[in-house]
Amino acid sequence: MRLPRNLFLLIAWILPAVSAAILAIDYGADFTKLSLVKPGVPFDVLLDRDSKRKIPSVVSWKREDRVVGTEGKLAATRFPHTHYPYVKAVLGTTEVPNLDVFPSPPVLTESGALVFRHDNIPKHITPKPDDKEAWTPTALLAHQLAYYKSLADHAAGEPVTQAVVTVPAWWTQAQRKAYRDALELQGIQCIGMIGEGTAIGLNYAMTRTFPDYDPETGEGEKAYHLVYDSGALSTSATVLAFYQTSWKPTPNSKMLINTTHVEALGVGWEDVGGINLDLALRDLLVDDIITKTGNKDIINDRKAMAKIDKEAIRVKQILSANQESLTSIESVFDDVDYRSKVSRMALEGKFEGKMTDFMKPIKQALDAAGLDLRNISSVILFGGNTRVPFIRAELHEVLGGDELIAQNVNADESAVLGAAFYGASLSGRFKMKSVEVHERSIYDIKMGDDIIFPAGTPLGTRKSVLLKPEDEINIDFSQGGNPILQLSIPGVKDALANFTASEPAVNVTVRLDARGILGVANAALVSEVKDEPTGGVAGKLKGMFGKKDATEEPEIEPEADTEQPEAETDAKEKAPKKVTKPRVALKFREKPLSPTHLSKDERQITNQRLRAIASYEGAMRAREEARNMLEGYLYKLQNILTGDEAEHKNLHAFSTKVERTRIKNLVDETLEWLHEHAEEATVHALIGKREAIEALERPIVTRFDEYEKRPPAVVNFRTALYAGRAFVDEARANLTAAAEEAKNAPADQPVAPPRYTEAEIQSVEDMIIDGGKWLDERMEKQMPLNEDKTADPVILAKDLDERGQKIQAAVLRLTSRKPPRAPKVRPVKTSQNGEKEETKEKKEPKEEEPQEKEAPKHQEL
Ligand SMILES: *[C@@H]1O[C@H](CO)[C@@H](O)[C@H](O)[C@H]1NC(C)=O
Ligand SMILES: *[C@@H]1O[C@H](CO)[C@@H](O)[C@H](O)[C@H]1NC(C)=O
Ligand SMILES: *[C@@H]1O[C@H](CO)[C@@H](O)[C@H](O)[C@H]1NC(C)=O
Ligand SMILES: *[C@@H]1O[C@H](CO)[C@@H](O)[C@H](O)[C@H]1NC(C)=O
Ligand SMILES: *[C@@H]1O[C@H](CO)[C@@H](O)[C@H](O)[C@H]1NC(C)=O
Repeated sequence: MRLPRNLFLLIAWILPAVSAAILAIDYGADFTKLSLVKPGVPFDVLLDRDSKRKIPSVVSWKREDRVVGTEGKLAATRFPHTHYPYVKAVLGTTEVPNLDVFPSPPVLTESGALVFRHDNIPKHITPKPDDKEAWTPTALLAHQLAYYKSLADHAAGEPVTQAVVTVPAWWTQAQRKAYRDALELQGIQCIGMIGEGTAIGLNYAMTRTFPDYDPETGEGEKAYHLVYDSGALSTSATVLAFYQTSWKPTPNSKMLINTTHVEALGVGWEDVGGINLDLALRDLLVDDIITKTGNKDIINDRKAMAKIDKEAIRVKQILSANQESLTSIESVFDDVDYRSKVSRMALEGKFEGKMTDFMKPIKQALDAAGLDLRNISSVILFGGNTRVPFIRAELHEVLGGDELIAQNVNADESAVLGAAFYGASLSGRFKMKSVEVHERSIYDIKMGDDIIFPAGTPLGTRKSVLLKPEDEINIDFSQGGNPILQLSIPGVKDALANFTASEPAVNVTVRLDARGILGVANAALVSEVKDEPTGGVAGKLKGMFGKKDATEEPEIEPEADTEQPEAETDAKEKAPKKVTKPRVALKFREKPLSPTHLSKDERQITNQRLRAIASYEGAMRAREEARNMLEGYLYKLQNILTGDEAEHKNLHAFSTKVERTRIKNLVDETLEWLHEHAEEATVHALIGKREAIEALERPIVTRFDEYEKRPPAVVNFRTALYAGRAFVDEARANLTAAAEEAKNAPADQPVAPPRYTEAEIQSVEDMIIDGGKWLDERMEKQMPLNEDKTADPVILAKDLDERGQKIQAAVLRLTSRKPPRAPKVRPVKTSQNGEKEETKEKKEPKEEEPQEKEAPKHQEL
């Protein structure tokens, strides 16, 4: 009985541990949207601390304090020097972007990475960073992720440790890895990356059905849609194919299981977006201010520029609905106010040249997919710019009308919701429509001089190549011409020494995972087999590797691997399956080549700083909480003590005037202390103050509590005494009767011994007598006190309960015991009806289980 129950318990404990929630993040240059997938939590966009659906993507410092989201954005005008917006533009890149949006622009380090300065770094951030090279873009993103994670943890009611994120489809390995690093710095595993356009399409597909298509035979058809996404920094178009495949769960099944496929066929993008509109408007305003005031220095005044930026964004929104807008900036500099008017035409004039850039991605994406607009069923619009009138007008022109534009699309949230669907489908723990996502690599990836994964390769593909067995192999991988990874296999020479099979070659398996990150899966020394259908061995070894016999296999599972400095080979490969093909696993190293890659040391130091900030913020929160609690408590007591006597009659009934005065004095004193020391008081001091008052309050509360609890507790205790007495009396009577029976029983048929011994009965009786005495004594003292409610009680409900429970337990322990059996009698061999005797003896032990008694088991023997 015990084992299965424990087993169930174990299962119940394990389940919650695996039912982890998944956070979906759509990190935009301006705003971020979050969503949480967790069984039992409604599927929606996650709200921030201010119950907003979108969170400004920014981190700032207000002197000592890190602020993010809305608060971080608000800090821009007062603390422009420590305000870090548009981190997305610099994440994983090595070029200072040609965008005048960074109050303190990033600089290039010697190693070629971008960093931001931070003047007067707060003391609590340790190890202390260098003021001039304080934060990498990865670290700045990690600061923001801390906030997103806290929102997710709160909504999930547990720490969230897995995330699916959207990324621009054209992001390079370095950018993707920088994002992954930032997530890992916050303890979040990146289980999936999905192109922004693909995520928008996936969300669109979840509620619609598509034609059947069989990828094996090419029968059926696909539906083509185009996602047009114009964000703050970039504008892109993604051509997607949607189709459905069906299969029968069993050969005779009538029901078909359908899977919806979302396939990214082509992407086009331009570095043009809302930010360009903001900057154009800013230029208009700055020009106007300079004309009106003659102050040319304004462009060097960061606070003034931050105010102008803020106004530009406001005016842009007005101009998207109106032809004209008033502008007004209070004390733009030196207490000079600025008031003027801007027209939509002026903005469009300033922007003329850029306008076509907004439309270029559509043609690029169609060309990449090998399709034209006639093939497109609908265009799905996303991003704030798609609401801007002149962009809508351009779209109208390019698309030949508005008929193609899909209706009922959430132009702000469908990316994050699509990512959440993707996360749910990866985890496999949710009941949902079955979906598969197919994305492709945008850039050629080279191994040495040869293209190993040409642009257009499906993500999640492995490829094995054979290399000449040089003594030591070092080979670089590059993506779109930029070095990304170096593979070294140092031990080929040693392995060759022991390798007896002919024609050795080094077999390297490279994978491009579903997140678009390249890595080496394994390397081994193998013998080339001659029964290969294509090409001779010599031919194969001529090049660095033979493309023809490279095996390509789609990789279905996204691998959540993190690279190790010394990657071990796949475990299963250590034991060769076929004896005929010798295979010696080789150790190899992968070294990331991007300058933005965080070294182990950098990662560790950044991690320490993030922890230091987290613990500082945790302490601040704890202090804040303790302060609020103390303050609330003090005001509550003050209200009660000075309030209406009738309203707080219990307080007045159960306390003396002296006691109330003492509490009041201490409350007043503490309030005064709090007003003086609120800012620097420690958590410890705050809690201590509260405890001091509680100590004065406690006796009064106890009196009141006891007054309420005592009568029922006394009744319960008396009931226990009464029940105990009844048990003792009956057990004694049974004992006497049993003794009598035993005396009269024949020798060969002994009776069972009595159920309880006299000593056992006596011990219960002693407890009852003791308990009765104790109660009488205490009640004698308590009764006179009942008149005076301010007197401390001499008998406590807790003691009554405790003693009553002890008596009850003692009785229960005895009554729940199995009654003793009659002693066994040895079978008498000479007995005439010996068979009967034996039967009886065999049955005897089963007597406890009456049902089994019926089964004549002995006959089966
Ligand atoms: C699968 O799709 C077919 C038609 O495309 C439909 O008839 C069928 O009901 C779908 N099956 C399920 C389980 O939804
Ligand atoms: C795209 O449209 C053109 C013109 O209508 C047609 O010839 C072509 O077959 C279509 N391509 C696909 C893949 O449907
Ligand atoms: C070669 O084989 C010998 C004997 O089995 C072994 O001791 C040695 O470690 C091997 N060397 C390598 C490089 O595997
Ligand atoms: C190279 O390794 C891959 C994956 O481990 C395997 O499928 C392939 O058969 C190997 N090639 C040779 C020639 O051993
Ligand atoms: C006394 O004996 C009767 C009859 O066997 C039994 O039902 C009862 O539980 C016994 N009481 C105690 C207290 O052992």
